[in-house]
Amino acid sequence: MQKLKEQSILVAGGGSTFTPGIVLMLLDNLDTFPIRQIKFYDNNEERQEKVAKACEILIKERAPQIKFAYTTDPETAFTDVDFVMAHIRVGLYAMREKDEKIPLKYGVIGQETCGPGGIAYGMRSIGGVLELIDYMEKYSPNAWMLNYSNPAAIVAEATRKLKPNSKIINICDMPVGIEHRMAEILGLDSRKDFVVRYYGLNHYGWWTDIRDHDGNDLMPKLIEHVSQYGYITPSEISNHGNENVEESWMHTFGKAKDVQALDPTTLPNTYLKYYLFSQDEVEIADPNYTRANEVMDHREKIVFQECNKVVKAGTAKGQNLEADDHASYIVDLARAIAYNTRERMLLIVPNNGSINNFDSTAMVEIPCIVTSNGPEPLVMGEIPRFQKGMMEQQVAVEKLVVEAWEEGSYQKLWQAITLSKTVPNARIAKQILDDLIEANKDFWPELK
Ligand code: NAD
Ligand code: G6P
Ligand code: MN
Repeated sequence: MQKLKEQSILVAGGGSTFTPGIVLMLLDNLDTFPIRQIKFYDNNEERQEKVAKACEILIKERAPQIKFAYTTDPETAFTDVDFVMAHIRVGLYAMREKDEKIPLKYGVIGQETCGPGGIAYGMRSIGGVLELIDYMEKYSPNAWMLNYSNPAAIVAEATRKLKPNSKIINICDMPVGIEHRMAEILGLDSRKDFVVRYYGLNHYGWWTDIRDHDGNDLMPKLIEHVSQYGYITPSEISNHGNENVEESWMHTFGKAKDVQALDPTTLPNTYLKYYLFSQDEVEIADPNYTRANEVMDHREKIVFQECNKVVKAGTAKGQNLEADDHASYIVDLARAIAYNTRERMLLIVPNNGSINNFDSTAMVEIPCIVTSNGPEPLVMGEIPRFQKGMMEQQVAVEKLVVEAWEEGSYQKLWQAITLSKTVPNARIAKQILDDLIEANKDFWPELK
C-alpha cells in the first residue's frame, strides 16, 4: 500500500475540556491517520498551558516523532496546517452560566444551544469562529476546518452566509452518541454496524431509517425500545443508572421516550425535548444551579486535575484522561477528507435540495459521503408537515440571529427570540433580550 501522507493538525481552543480526548484519539489512530505535527491555539494563554503541558508529555511518551507546540499567536498557530479542529467557547463557562440562568428567571428554558441561551451564545460565537477562518485562509489556505464550536446551527448559518467559499465543515457529536446507545440497544458492537437516514437542523432532527449492512430493518426493534425507555440502554435499566453518565444526561436520554411519541415512526434527537416539552424542562431546572455549574464542578475540574497530575508526575502513565465518540468522529472526518475514504457521516451542510420541500439555503444535518473534496450530501427527499413546520420556525430563528449579528439589529434579535418555540410571547422575549444585552456587552456587537 502507498504510504499515507502525514498530517499537521491544529486544535483551536487548545484549552478546551475536550482537547485531551482528541489528542488521545489522534494517538490511537496513527496507523490510519499518520501525523507529523500537532499544535494548539487558544486566546487564553493560562488555560491552554495547563492542558498543553500535559498533552506534551502524553505525545512525547506515545509518539515522540510528532512535533508539538502551543501558542496564542495566530500566525505561528495557523501556518503549515492541514486540519484545524476547532472547539472554542467564547465567554467560557462563566457566560454559559448566564445564558442558562437569565431565561430561567422568566420561566424559559436555559440551555447552551437551544432557546434564548443558544441565541446569546450564537451572538458571541459567530465572531470567534469567523476569526479562526480568516487566520486559516491567510496562513494555510488549503486547510480544512472541522468545527465543533457551538451553537453549531447558528455558527453554520453564519459561515454559509458570511464565508460561503471557506473550507469549514460544522459537526455535532449528539447523533453519534445516540447511535452508540442504539448499537447497545440492538446488541451490536458498534454504530458502524448500521447505516442511517436522518434529517433535520443541528440539535433538531429525526432518524427515519436504520439498517444493518445486509439491509435488515432495525427500526422496529429500536422504536419498541425507545417508546418504552427512551435511549436508556438495557444495562443502564438493569443497573438503575450509569456511574459514568450524569443524572441530567440520564434524564435527557429517558425523556426521548416522550419526544418519540410525537412521531412514532421516527427516532428523535434528544435536544428536541427543549422545544416539545419546554415547560417540563423548566419545572425540573434549578435556576441557581444549571448545567454550566454541573460542568464546572465535574468535567472541567476533572480534566484540569488530571492534566495537573500528569504534569506533576512528569508522566501520563496511569492517567485518567480518555478518548470518546466525540473525538473519534472528528478523526473519522479528517481521515475521510485526507485519504478519500468516502465514509458516510452526518454533517451540517447547505440543504441545496437534499430535503426537497425545505428552504434550499437552510443549513441542515443530513448524511453525506465524505471525499477529499468535502461532503457530498445525500437526498433525504420530502419531509412530513409536522417536522417541516417545526424546522421552518427554527431555521427562521437561526437566520434572524445571523442577520441581527451582521446588521447590529435589536429588532431582528427580538424577533428571533420571540420566534423560538421555547419562548411564550414577545414581552418575555424582550425582557430576556434586554438582560442578555447587559450580560453580553463585552462580546456582542452593539445593537440598534
Ligand atoms: P471550554 O471552555 O473548556 O474550552 C473552550 C476553549 O476555547 C477555552 O480554552 C477558551 O479559552 C477558548 N476560546 C474561547 N474563545 C476563543 C477564541 N476567540 N479564539 C481561540 N480560543 C478561544 O469549553 P468546552 O466545554 O470544552 O467546549 C468547547 C466547545 O465545543 C464549545 O463550543 C462546546 O459547545 C463545543 N462542543 C460542541 C459539540 C458538538 O456537538 N458540536 C460537542 C461538544 C462540545
Ligand atoms: C452534546 C452536544 C454538544 C454539547 C455536548 C456537551 O454532545 O451535541 O453540542 O456541547 O453535548 O454538553 P455539556 O452540557 O456536557 O457541556
Ligand atoms: Mn452538538
